[in-house]
Amino acid sequence: MSFGNAFAPALLPELLGDSEFRREHGVRYAYATGAMANGIASESLVEAGAKAGLLSFFGAAGLPPARVEAAIDRLEKSLGGLPRGFNLIHSPSEPDLEAALTDLYIARDVRLVEASAFMDLTPAIVRYRLHGIARGEDGRVRAPNKVVAKVSRVEVAAKFLAPASERLLREMAAAGLITSGQAELAAEIPMASDLTVEADSGGHTDNRPLVAMFPAMIALRDRLQAQFRFKNPARVGAAGGISTPEAAAAAYMMGAAYVLTGSVNQSCVESGTSDQVRRMLAAAGQADCVMAPAADMFELGVKVQVLKRGTMFAQRGAKLYDIWRTCDSIEAIAPAVRAALEKDVFRSGLDEVWASTREYFLKRDASQVERAEKEPKHKMALVFRSYLGQASRWANAGVADRALDYQVWCGPAMGAFNEWTQGSFLQAPERRAVGLVARNILYGAAVLTRAHFLRCQGLTLDGETTRIEPLQAAELERLLDE
Ligand SMILES: Cc1cc2nc3c(=O)[nH]c(=O)nc-3n(C[C@H](O)[C@H](O)[C@H](O)COP(=O)(O)O)c2cc1C
Repeated sequence: MSFGNAFAPALLPELLGDSEFRREHGVRYAYATGAMANGIASESLVEAGAKAGLLSFFGAAGLPPARVEAAIDRLEKSLGGLPRGFNLIHSPSEPDLEAALTDLYIARDVRLVEASAFMDLTPAIVRYRLHGIARGEDGRVRAPNKVVAKVSRVEVAAKFLAPASERLLREMAAAGLITSGQAELAAEIPMASDLTVEADSGGHTDNRPLVAMFPAMIALRDRLQAQFRFKNPARVGAAGGISTPEAAAAAYMMGAAYVLTGSVNQSCVESGTSDQVRRMLAAAGQADCVMAPAADMFELGVKVQVLKRGTMFAQRGAKLYDIWRTCDSIEAIAPAVRAALEKDVFRSGLDEVWASTREYFLKRDASQVERAEKEPKHKMALVFRSYLGQASRWANAGVADRALDYQVWCGPAMGAFNEWTQGSFLQAPERRAVGLVARNILYGAAVLTRAHFLRCQGLTLDGETTRIEPLQAAELERLLDE
């Protein structure tokens, strides 16, 4: 590209981001697709991502270990040595589940996890990272298990950018969870091989802006690297709001080693949601998202970002949280309020809902039932959480008569993508495929980066020149694969 004396060298999308990220993870592009709970980031999505040269994470959160193991089996067969990872989500209310998933990943030689929702390091994540750690003949410490940690707060980032604390290592060694040899080598590696800085996103989010948060995280990494002098410092990537060429180009320009997308992938054909939800997502604007109570951390007041348009989930969830906060038990709910909940939200008596919730927890985690039978407020929380949890399953399964209750995690990135692709073939959800979407974003980011070089040489470029039209697969192949 040359305009007068200005010159912008060729830039292939595979050169964007950090070359070490691409080399170490064995991917063509410094582009990851994040885990999406309940298998929304499905096996098909991970297969499509891996085959397109992306780093894709399976959405293990909310699934029982046996279901996650079935995904491990399938991906082993379908992908062989191609890279992929699995989500290890912190579960404060179900520590046994976090430990069971960790055991599974260790037993099945899963070498890469996306660690998320952590507020502090737990024995489970430390045990995963240190499994197989050894000093090579060249004197370097190598940890075969890699952790891509997703964070939105500096306090949490600081934990992952440093080794696990001596105290935690000592306690874990004393409890027989790690050997003293592992504890010693742990001091030479950061807990995370990569740190994803997650700005305002779909699902769990602190709604922070990427441009404000990202520089602080890079500075933190550099400060901790100066202190610990790791042989392999953690790389820092960016997520939250990325679904357009402009956003990806801006993230790479800020120094992101890689970008990670979420919302946009849910609207793609490979995701584990329903066609109804894909259509709802494809019609969303940027302002069609809202915060609603989270099922997994309901009592802590944690919220998740969901789709607002076309569903009443957010209002109903907020109402449940309000009632839980102000009443001490189900029996204390005013009769008219209770009747409305039973009619509109639960479509069943709350006593019956408790009976089925109790059954569910007896199989999954009986200690919850024991506690609920002693603490009426906890019982109410479990009943209310059952609605929040099912609301996501109804959406994934496309249960027609529950459409107004769909819980669809989604951030403003969805609207941004819809606005960009409006009028193009990618407007239709049935044409959206994870690899095609990613390669279009990357291709556009490379073009815009070149345009930036030209602007830096004094050239003024009009909107026509810098407008990126989505390209069909064949056209992308011609441009990128020759
Ligand atoms: C439907 C959906 C479900 C998600 N579930 C998870 C999850 O289980 N674990 C996780 O680490 N992140 C989860 N995320 C976050 C994504 O992995 C990703 O970090 C985020 O969506 C990026 O921001 P964006 O939505 O603005 O693209 C989810 C996001 C969405 C949209």
